[in-house]
Amino acid sequence: MAADARVLACVLMTLVLPLRAHKRLSSIQVFMQQPFGSWLRLNTAWNVLCVALSVLACRGWGIEMWQRGLRGMVALIGREGLRAVCALPYIRSVVRSEVAKELKSIEKSIHGEGDPTALLMLPREGLPCTRILERIQEANAAESAEYVGVAKKWAGIYHAPVGELVDLQNKVWGIYNCSNTLYEGVFPSVRKYEAELVSWAIHMLSGRSPACGLLTSGGTESVMLAALSYRELGRSRGITTPRILAANTCHPCIVKACHYFGMALTKIPVDESAGFALTAKRVRRYITGDVVCIYASAPTFPHGVVDHVSDLGNLATSKGIGLHVDNCLGGVLLSYMECMEDMKEPFDFQAWDFRVPGVSSISVDIHKYGNASKGVSVIAFRDPGLRRMTYVPVTDGCEGLYVTPTMQGARGGAVIAQAWATMLSFGHVGYAKFAAHVHQTHMLYQKVVSKVPGLYVLCKCHACIVPVGSKKYNIYAVASLLEEKGWNLATGQSPPCLTICIGERHDRIVDVFEQDLRAAVEFLDANPSHKPSGAAAARYG
Ligand SMILES: *Cc1c(COP(=O)(O)O)cnc(C)c1O
Ligand SMILES: *[C@@H]1O[C@H](CO)[C@@H](O)[C@H](O)[C@H]1NC(C)=O
Ligand SMILES: *[C@@H]1O[C@H](CO)[C@@H](O)[C@H](O)[C@H]1NC(C)=O
Repeated sequence: MAADARVLACVLMTLVLPLRAHKRLSSIQVFMQQPFGSWLRLNTAWNVLCVALSVLACRGWGIEMWQRGLRGMVALIGREGLRAVCALPYIRSVVRSEVAKELKSIEKSIHGEGDPTALLMLPREGLPCTRILERIQEANAAESAEYVGVAKKWAGIYHAPVGELVDLQNKVWGIYNCSNTLYEGVFPSVRKYEAELVSWAIHMLSGRSPACGLLTSGGTESVMLAALSYRELGRSRGITTPRILAANTCHPCIVKACHYFGMALTKIPVDESAGFALTAKRVRRYITGDVVCIYASAPTFPHGVVDHVSDLGNLATSKGIGLHVDNCLGGVLLSYMECMEDMKEPFDFQAWDFRVPGVSSISVDIHKYGNASKGVSVIAFRDPGLRRMTYVPVTDGCEGLYVTPTMQGARGGAVIAQAWATMLSFGHVGYAKFAAHVHQTHMLYQKVVSKVPGLYVLCKCHACIVPVGSKKYNIYAVASLLEEKGWNLATGQSPPCLTICIGERHDRIVDVFEQDLRAAVEFLDANPSHKPSGAAAARYG
């Protein structure tokens, strides 16, 4: 608002200039009596001032246009035009009824005809514990039958939730069922687990003192805290709306972070010829005065590609900006792939952790390939000054000084203790074996995909994800046919692909996958006009 007012004021001032000149010229005699030079000097100074102010005020618009590029501007104008058309009364009512219909059908696909047993109000009297437990067991039985044994229903559970480790996890969870990290004096053991987990993660990422970090509830919170620290850094440099540069393959959580924290985000299309990786060459053009951070992924969720972090690190260093590496998905896995015994040949992706001097922060999920239960991730910073930017100490309340790490206040200690126990039970050797196993399964799935006629692996995927493309079939139709067979997949766009994320259990069902995939394309050969349906039509989360 203030920026727009500034622009308006400057434009008005610039417009007034010719009027002034005209008035003066019309009374030219007056001027002739005065030394003409001084009028010119005055006017030039005024002119320069106005132009300078206008340039300054319009800088934001200029940056925005530069960031979007010609195509982006055309798209923006198109979008705004479409929005204006949709706002016309008749069209608006048509759009609304279509949207309502669509929402209803989505709701129906999620909830069916509604649940007659739903408890919409808390009962007056509490139920006996045994009855509650029965109900929970009954409700969970069907679900867990689907995701425990069968990896088709992958559901973001990266490990096999059975066996000794799960017993340990359950016991630890029970022991800490009643704990609160806010009261670290009462629960010093939880504080110790938390500090050690962070330290292990930093070590895994080749971080050295004074690198530090925070334990968060998940990748999204880790990325948010990173974004917050860069925003504060930008503001300390006088940038009102700091900007982050990311690839269009970035995880949606960075969009959410920029939205929450009032930051600008430019999504840069990745280079197909560079195997869908974000390259320094692409990013360079977008570096404007308001950029505080480049956001790279190791690897990306849609394609499993590690961005060119090492090159981006050089670029970030030379421009004096930060580089965040989203290692949420590949955390643990990438770190340990390098120490796999039978994988001595170098991986064909660039270094992506603190070994790259320009990397200033890394988010790494312990609850994905770390084998821990959901609710544990680490955000690591190279410089404690950056972490400090995420703290909000409050001293003007009734409580004296109040400051908590992360975005949370009170937190349970169970999930932390459990993650600590999990990592400890693996050790380096355990994780290296785990990484080797996932890597081999990853290769197996790639082989299967490339054997099926009409389908191909979209690009050189470095870890855990197999992106499947097709020049012959509608890939969303393939995805929805697989979904009908019980597979839980994600899909991506530009270019269209279906995405399989490899978990620990996928090796057991690779044959089933091949059968189902072949059946899907054979079905499409027989029914070429089959339309995609269901969630596979376009959804992740
Ligand atoms: C999973 C993931 C995230 C977000 O993590 P959550 O734990 O789901 O909040 C961020 N980035 C990538 C690449 C991911 O795969
Ligand atoms: C849950 O926590 C309480 C309090 O610490 C403890 O007494 C109890 O044994 C715990 N439950 C389990 C199953 O360990
Ligand atoms: C991950 O946890 C599961 C569940 O306990 C276990 O079976 C599996 O072996 C673990 N992964 C590795 C590599 O140990």
